[in-house]
Amino acid sequence: MAPRAVWSSCVPLTIAIITVACWLRTACCQAVQAENVTVLEGGTAQISCRLQNYDGSIVVIQNPRRQTLFFNGTRALKDERFQMVLFTPRLVRITLTNVSVLDEGGYFCQLYTAATHHQVATLSVLVPPEVPSVEVKQVAVEGGEVELICVSPRSKPAASLRWVRNSREIPGAVSRQDNGKTFSVSNTIHVPVERKDNGAALSCEATHPALGGQKRIRHYRLDVYFAPTVRILPPSGILREGDSLSLTCSVTGNPLPRDIQWSRINDTLPERAEISGPTFQISRLSQTHNGTYLCQAQNDYGRAADHYSLLVYDPGAVVETHSAVPYAVIGGVLAFLVFTIICVLIITIWCSVRQKGSYRTREPILAWY
Ligand SMILES: *[C@@H]1O[C@H](CO)[C@@H](O)[C@H](O)[C@H]1NC(C)=O
Ligand SMILES: *[C@@H]1O[C@H](CO)[C@@H](O)[C@H](O)[C@H]1NC(C)=O
Ligand SMILES: *[C@@H]1O[C@H](CO)[C@@H](O)[C@H](O)[C@H]1NC(C)=O
Ligand SMILES: *[C@@H]1O[C@H](CO)[C@@H](O)[C@H](O)[C@H]1NC(C)=O
Ligand SMILES: *[C@@H]1O[C@H](CO)[C@@H](O)[C@H](O)[C@H]1NC(C)=O
Repeated sequence: MAPRAVWSSCVPLTIAIITVACWLRTACCQAVQAENVTVLEGGTAQISCRLQNYDGSIVVIQNPRRQTLFFNGTRALKDERFQMVLFTPRLVRITLTNVSVLDEGGYFCQLYTAATHHQVATLSVLVPPEVPSVEVKQVAVEGGEVELICVSPRSKPAASLRWVRNSREIPGAVSRQDNGKTFSVSNTIHVPVERKDNGAALSCEATHPALGGQKRIRHYRLDVYFAPTVRILPPSGILREGDSLSLTCSVTGNPLPRDIQWSRINDTLPERAEISGPTFQISRLSQTHNGTYLCQAQNDYGRAADHYSLLVYDPGAVVETHSAVPYAVIGGVLAFLVFTIICVLIITIWCSVRQKGSYRTREPILAWY
């Protein structure tokens, strides 16, 4: 009797357990999983919802404002950027093209069953910085200081900016402004400038997680204004009557002076003088051309001058003062030539002696063959 009673109570219990288990499997263990997504602005985001034990329940996808984008595969919101690309019992996937920072937030994957399941896929949007720009408030004048501001107006998260000169970082003042979804960043430096810094290369580098290890670089060349310098390149040797004179005035300055003035101290320029910018020529010299000639130039930052004293000698005059230098030069060149010839001779003799020696050592080896 006892075993039969056990049997009769056991069967309904087993059936009940199996029924509950089956119900749990379909109702309770149906689930949805969402994955977080990070995408560049303007790119395409894939939002995926993984389904488990899908039994045909309604799947709803909502945007961060909880507007329904798709109701079980059917478009609900009129935004063509969203497309349903996959709807299988395991995976529901939508894409969002031309992503903007305003699309950021949690996308809801919702499964309507006896117990409603939902998961949130967080969409993050990165905005890489453009090549930064450089702002200069005032021109750089020698002896002063220039303020350079590197600006990256839009990035997310905030880009890092650094100033670099000769591969070394120039420390600056960094400021960051939050413009809602994106940041504007600037880095300000103060550089003391001398005329040797004119044309010096600086660069401002932007780095950002969305750029990987790459940098967006703005190159900048310092433009340093300075007063002119003037130097007359004199002719070599002495000048006699009938010779021609050619002077060149070498001018620097930033900006480069446009006008170069030639004059003669306490006198007027000779009629035969030909002037063309930095060159000054007199074709047939006479002693009346004796005098001091001046080359002058100026820009907004100053003026400068150099002078040349012209002495015109008789065609027959014997002049020693200037000729000493060429003789010294010729003497030096001759001495150098003699020295070189002696060296070459010594090397030649030494080499021929060595070669003879090496022939001698080779002789026994040749004898083997
Ligand atoms: C997804 O992003 C949210 C918000 O940033 C975070 O709380 C959650 O842990 C992330 N989930 C996963 C699976 O990384
Ligand atoms: C929802 O869509 C899926 C896939 O198209 C379908 O199998 C299922 O029957 C739909 N469910 C309802 C309640 O319409
Ligand atoms: C992408 O979106 C921006 C605004 O967010 C818009 O100005 C631009 O025209 C869009 N581009 C395309 C290809 O749809
Ligand atoms: C120019 O003339 C003045 C006065 O006549 C004189 O003092 C000065 O030395 C002269 N300069 C030159 C370079 O000859
Ligand atoms: C010009 O200079 C030369 C050299 O000093 C001198 O011999 C000559 O007398 C000068 N001529 C005049 C006109 O001053």
